[in-house]
Amino acid sequence: MNQIEEDELIEEDYDEKIKLMILGDSTVGKSSILNKYCKNEFYEKYISTIGIDFQMKYININNKKIKLQIWDTAGQERYRVVTKNYFNTSDGFIIIYDITNRESFNNVTNWVEQITTLAGEGIKCILFGNKSDLSSQRQVQKEEGKELAKKYNFNFYETSAKDGNNLEEGFKAITMSVMSDIKSVISKRSKSSILKKQNNKKINKNENKKENCC
Ligand code: GTP
Repeated sequence: MNQIEEDELIEEDYDEKIKLMILGDSTVGKSSILNKYCKNEFYEKYISTIGIDFQMKYININNKKIKLQIWDTAGQERYRVVTKNYFNTSDGFIIIYDITNRESFNNVTNWVEQITTLAGEGIKCILFGNKSDLSSQRQVQKEEGKELAKKYNFNFYETSAKDGNNLEEGFKAITMSVMSDIKSVISKRSKSSILKKQNNKKINKNENKKENCC
């Protein structure tokens, strides 16, 4: 049994559990945002994420206690095969670019396309333009971020993992957005759990066949 399955068996005091996934090019600050938001920690040193990882955070919205399970993905191309497997279990996505790196902004479109292909259309997303504390090195104007988010109908925030700018606001906004569509989230979850059960049945059948064979 893996950590998440174990975790789900422990009865906890929360009203809703939401899975969010953070995407974006390498070094835009995905892990830093997660560390700052969940632990109030920031590291100047870059350590690349290998594959995928997650952290938990509890927040209160409209008198409901929400458990956020936030997945941090590796931006490096070589880990994409691993991270892709997790797309369709996410309830919402945070797409991040770095305001000091134009290429990471140009690549937002590719991330949106991947989400649409792997998680389906209409899934809730938010766009963060990170490293707002490095405004003097800015390559992407705030207006451009706003325009792009508007095109996709996403909320938009400029954030900083260093000074915490807009992190509470941004995570609250994506959580509220997912919560507003909670019926489709629950239906998606039950579909995927039915699929899981069907797959387990198939595996059991095949194992029984093997045992009875010869
Ligand atoms: P991958 O693991 O390769 O996908 O990178 P990542 O997107 O998780 O980036 P990471 O959080 O590791 O940050 C990359 C570098 O940018 C690190 O040196 C961080 O200290 C720095 N950094 C991240 N966010 C900020 C920020 O908001 N402001 C500043 N000044 N630096 C930041």
